[in-house]
Formats: sequence, structure tokens, C-alpha cells
Amino acid sequence: MDIVAQLESAFRAAIATALGPSHADADPAIRPSQNPAFGDFQANGALGLAKQVGEKPRDLAQRIAVAAATELGDLVEPLEVAGPGFINIRLRPPALARLLTAVDTPDLAVKPQPSAHAVVIDLCGVNVAKQMHVGHLRATIIGDALARVFERLGRTVHRENHLGDWGLPIAMVLHQLRAQRIDLDRLALEDLNRAYRDAQLTAKGDERGLEAARALGCGPHRVAELEAQHQGAAAFEEAARATLVKLQSGDPELVRDWQKLIDVTMREVFVAADVLNVRLRPEHSRGESFFRDRLAGVVDAFVRGGLGVEDQGAIVVRFPERERPLLIRKRDGGFLYATTDLAAVRYRVQELDGERVIYVVDARQRDHFQDVFDAAHLIGWDRLPDGTVAELLHVGFGTVLGKDRKPLKTRSGENFTLMALLDEAVGRGVHEVRQRAEDPESPTHGLTEGEIHRIGQAVGIAAVKYADLSTDLVRDYVFDLDRMIAFEGDTGPYLLYAHARICSIFARAGLDPAGFRSAELILEEPAERALALALLRYGAVVHDVARTLEPHRLCNYLRALCEHFSAFYQACPVLKADDPARRDSRLRLCDLTRRTLADGLDLLGISAPERM
Ligand code: ARG
Repeated sequence: MDIVAQLESAFRAAIATALGPSHADADPAIRPSQNPAFGDFQANGALGLAKQVGEKPRDLAQRIAVAAATELGDLVEPLEVAGPGFINIRLRPPALARLLTAVDTPDLAVKPQPSAHAVVIDLCGVNVAKQMHVGHLRATIIGDALARVFERLGRTVHRENHLGDWGLPIAMVLHQLRAQRIDLDRLALEDLNRAYRDAQLTAKGDERGLEAARALGCGPHRVAELEAQHQGAAAFEEAARATLVKLQSGDPELVRDWQKLIDVTMREVFVAADVLNVRLRPEHSRGESFFRDRLAGVVDAFVRGGLGVEDQGAIVVRFPERERPLLIRKRDGGFLYATTDLAAVRYRVQELDGERVIYVVDARQRDHFQDVFDAAHLIGWDRLPDGTVAELLHVGFGTVLGKDRKPLKTRSGENFTLMALLDEAVGRGVHEVRQRAEDPESPTHGLTEGEIHRIGQAVGIAAVKYADLSTDLVRDYVFDLDRMIAFEGDTGPYLLYAHARICSIFARAGLDPAGFRSAELILEEPAERALALALLRYGAVVHDVARTLEPHRLCNYLRALCEHFSAFYQACPVLKADDPARRDSRLRLCDLTRRTLADGLDLLGISAPERM
């Protein structure tokens, strides 16, 4: 059992002994000590309880401490009551060693989460024909990290890439490309982007200009010119709509061409996923088009249940105490983004058996998901086949900003494409590693160009991913590669560097880390204890991320772990330890730290090279 959970349960029992069973649920408030002089942990619960029962806090703390001592046996040194009524807890060195030994297993004692049901993660969500941009980077990175955490806990995870592959935008591009007789078999993503932009421009026409020109009495010549443009736009839209109708009715030639557009887009997405070390493959794609035959059924079900009502020819769902209704069918009979999402909720809960359905999508879609989740709840589509109510959760994330604090753009003012951004990050990583490799003392000195590149890529990608995952998700953050790539501070490369440094301790001494995994742990120095206490918490932190869906908790933990390791390595000689038993114990601590770090980084989708 996790040490904090163990202390909690002992102190709960102690509180019940001191105050009677009616207080068995009281929170003992176990916290790690801020200052090692006060022990390893504190139990702060007596203060609040004393107020409740009208007893002096120090007296109550004393009674709880006596009862807790019985519960804890030889796990702890004698408990001390301090200050206004805190109880200081210090683990006895042999107990700490015993606990840490139990954690030192191949799976680092991360307990599996028992559940027969699956976890569904909606991630990536690119739009076909539009290029993948920085926002989709976040949806992909965060979604993948959460998926890895649940997989690590033994859960069945469905990664669902709900790509935008159905509807007017793609029909417009399709129409545009076919009208230009572009060979779709030779299509590059760039052509698609251009077609998308052109289609967008044509479709907009100059409606507002026309209105203004008329209102201002701009003269017949100007108005006629604008009218001609506008007619072109209207004709284009009509043709695009006709294409959409044909596509939606399954015209084989159009469907074939449509599939080609998807392939071009997804090819690049999968390359990006590979560079990013993200597990996203074709089998995870289940785009909007997958649900196309279920949309009429969605609307029917809402109407039959009395939940979908007509409003000026459209069908809407209304919610108690909310003005905003949810539109699920337009007047012209067309379906919406929300209709598709309702079909998807139903599928994910009822067919994929998703007990937690987690949507990693831009925070600006908050209202959309609130409406979809509430509508799903009203109609009962959040119930699993066995009756369990699923949790539908939107993990909204903030916007990536440039140094000017506006949404990230390239120098020429375009939206940053994902590939351009990754290329830059990898380039910087390679540059940093190559520079360091020039130093004859560096472990990377003399490596081949291929190896330098591989390590550089890991560094660049770690920089981007760590920066993304270590901030509170809903906050916007500034994309500043200079800061992200630094080898010191709260950065990905700092963690990789700590990992590589441990590898080189063994490599330089020609030692195999596996040879120390049964060495007796001797934990006496304060820095050794602090490191051991941090290592003990790993499993609890992974569970915490699964509970809160906040990967930054793992980032903070790993950074703190590296800091504890640094302090330990400075204070405690390892290879030059006083005696062989201490040396072996410390080597084992190094190895366990490295494995914990590598495991945690892997959950973030960051691979840790052995040399840097
Ligand atoms: N394609 C959407 C966009 O780019 C994101 C899809 C998110 N997932 C969902 N189930 N709605 O905005």
C-alpha cells in the first residue's frame, strides 16, 4: 500500500480510538513535511477536530499520537506533537528501506486499476483538408499522455481520433480540386491547403462589400463588379452543396476521391505522430463520417423521447435553467457537429463500454460539450450496458501563443503548421546536442551523425512536450523554444539530462545496473531519505494523474525527483562511498531513480536517451 494511504488509515483508526467511532471518517490530513527537521510527514488533523469537540489541540494530538503509535508499530520513530498540535512522523530507516524495496519491482509497484470497463480518449481531432495546426498538437500530446497513464494502470483504452472528414468544408475542397482537374493521386497536403483557402475565399465572395457598396451608392460600375463576384460565390456554394449531397448519397467516384483527400491529410498526421512519439495510428481514426448513418436516428430518438422539439422548422434540445438550446437538426434538414457528437457519445458508452469518456479538445468548445453531455444524460446515453453511469469529461486546453502573446503565427503571419513547428524543435535539439558533443568530455563525443540526430530529436520533442504538459492545461502558454530547450530549469531536457547522467554513472564504471537490484538499501543520510521518500510516491502520483486528468502533476513529480537526485548525488559519494555496502545501496538508488524517471517520461510520451 502507498505510504500516505497507510499512514492515513492508521491515523483514521487512531482518531476513532481517541474520539469514538462517530469520528472514524475524519480526515487525518497527512502531509509531507516541508522541513526534514520535522520528520517525513505530518498529521495535521487534530487541530480542526479539537475545535469541533472542544478539546485543547495539543491534548487531543497527544491522545491521537498514542493510539497511532500502536497502529504503526515499528514503521515509525516515536511520534512527536509539535507547535499548536501537529504530529510529526518519521519513518524508521529499516522501515523506509523495506517500503522502498517493495517498490523496486519491474513495474515499480504501480497498482493496476481494477475495472471491467474501458476508458475512451478523444484526441487529435484534425480536420481533413485543413492542415494540422498547433491546437491539434495539444489535443494529440495531452490525449496520448492520458491514454498512456490509463494503459499503465491496466485499463482498456480506446483512442478515438474524431477527425473532421464530413460536411461542407471538405465538399468545397473536393469540388474545387475536381473543377481544377487536379490529379488527386499526386496530391500533396500543400495543394489541399491552397484549395481550402481558395474555396473559402470564393465561397465568401464579397457579400459585405456588396451590401456596403449598395448602401453607400457607390455607382453602378462598382456595384455591378461586386455583384458579378458575388454571383460567382453563390454559384460555387451551390455546386459545393451539390457535391456534398452526391457524396452523402454515396456516389462511388466522389467517395473514392474523398478517401484520397483523407489519405493525404492523414499521411502527414501519422508522420507527425511518429516524430512526436505519440501512439496514433490508422486504426484510431473514427471520424465524423463514421457516424453519418446514425444522425437521423439521433434526431428521431430525441423527438420520440419528447426531448427534441421543433423550433421554426429546426429541431432543438432544451435544458432546464439554460437559455441556450442545442440545435441538432437545421431547418434544411442538415445535421450538425453536435448531432455527430451525440451519436459518438452513444457509440462510445454503449458499444465501446467507455466508463470514462474523455474529450481532449480546445477549451473554447466548452459550451458545446456541456450541451452534448447534458443532452446525452437526458436521453440516457451515458449509461453503460450494465447500467453504470459513465463519466463524460471535457479536458479543455488553452491556446498556444507567440512571444507577442497572440495565437502563434509564423513570421509571415500564417498559422504555424504542425510540421514546421516540429522541424524547428528537432533542429534546435540537434543543434544543442551537436554543440555539446564537441566537448571531448561529453558522453556524446564521437557519436555518429545518425546518433546525434536521434538524441537531438528526443531533446527537441521532449522540450515541446514537457512545456505543453507541465502547465495547467486550461492556461494559454507562450511557445518559447529558447526557454523550453534549456538544459536547466523546469524543462524536458533537464529531465532527460538527469536520466542520461545516471546512465553514465554505470557506463563509466563499467557496471551493470541489474547487478544491484537486490543490494540491501541503507537509508541514513537526509538526502538519501528524501530521495527514497520521493521514489515511494511514484505509484500514487500516476493514480493521481488518472483521477484528476492533470499530467502536470506527473511533470512536477518528475522534476522534484530529479532535484532530490541531484541533492543526493552531491551529498552522498556513490562509487567512492566509504564501504561496499553503502556503495551498492547507492547504486541501487541510482538505478531505481533512473527507472522511475524513464517510466514517468514514457507516460508523458517522452523517450529518454542514455547519453546526452
Ligand atoms: N475537429 C474538431 C476541431 O478541429 C475537433 C474534434 C473534437 N472531438 C469531438 N468529438 N468533437 O475543432
